[in-house]
Amino acid sequence: MAIDRIVNTTLSEDAEQEEVLLEVTLRPRDFASYIGQGRLKQNLNLAIEAAKKRGEPLDHVLLYGPPGLGKTTMASVIAHEMGSQIRVTSGPAIERAGDLASLLTNLSDGDILFIDEIHRLNRNVEEVLYSAMEDFKLDIMLGKGPSARSLRLDVPKFTLIGATTRTGNLAAPLRDRFGHIHRLEFYTPDEIRQIIERAAGILNVAIRRDAALELAHRARLTPRIANRLLKRVRDYADVNGDGIIDTTIGGRALIMLEVDELGLDPADRMLLTAIIDSYKGGPVGVETLAALTAEERSTIEDFIEPYLMQIGLLERTPRGRRVTYKAYRHLGRTPPADSDT
Ligand code: ADE
Repeated sequence: MAIDRIVNTTLSEDAEQEEVLLEVTLRPRDFASYIGQGRLKQNLNLAIEAAKKRGEPLDHVLLYGPPGLGKTTMASVIAHEMGSQIRVTSGPAIERAGDLASLLTNLSDGDILFIDEIHRLNRNVEEVLYSAMEDFKLDIMLGKGPSARSLRLDVPKFTLIGATTRTGNLAAPLRDRFGHIHRLEFYTPDEIRQIIERAAGILNVAIRRDAALELAHRARLTPRIANRLLKRVRDYADVNGDGIIDTTIGGRALIMLEVDELGLDPADRMLLTAIIDSYKGGPVGVETLAALTAEERSTIEDFIEPYLMQIGLLERTPRGRRVTYKAYRHLGRTPPADSDT
């Protein structure tokens, strides 16, 4: 069910294809066209300038935060700003130490290796990565049993950029080998509006300022969702109007898409309602919630909760998840008399 959500940040294969094409054209190439994440850009810009001045590769960078906030985009911007080549892969795609060895030995000095979902690297691969990150050496075991030998190879002086949704999932020895660890923050509604207007410009879509802001408020403070909503609303405007997106057309399209004023979709509302109806507002453990809503625990933790917490509808307490007073009001429900949130 999660796969079909318009506001979801995971995708079915077809949607992923479309998304890849969309993202490639809409993706900003440099810091100047990258909207938002001001502090991150400032820190990285300084590090990049310093590295370039010294003629050295950039220290390894770990980017973490909820999906859709631009970790991959930021990695390609870093490569562009460094004037480096980037090689993109993901944790699950590197199955054996040998796969990593061939990736690394095919890089050149100064290249960037981007590993998405780095928390999903297999343990053996992760251990080989340690020495590659630390002293640009690869320790490979050849053969098995008594005749096994270890081989030490030099690898080019690369920069690893790792991306993960949560740093808590990462082994400490891996985390400690990154020189820069940065969290991507949710964007402000005004930054999302700017991203929508920029995308509309590239896609040649006419959208009124107030409609862009309205869309921004419903895009979960997430560029990937903002761009997807823009495309769906454009479809609606092309079929039901004259192609120009104003607040009337935008509002109607969003009702059809079942995205409410806060950007919640039926799955979000179901989660909040389940806590209210079955657990009097909580606290309730995430495993119980997963069973109750038929969502995976990781889907709840990575895709649903971060935004609900960001906008103050849900709280994480030591005893579990709890909905807030604001959530009751948003759903048109009466909060319990002793509600203090
Ligand atoms: N498209 C997606 N994310 C963006 C960003 N942060 N800035 C500009 N355009 C974007």
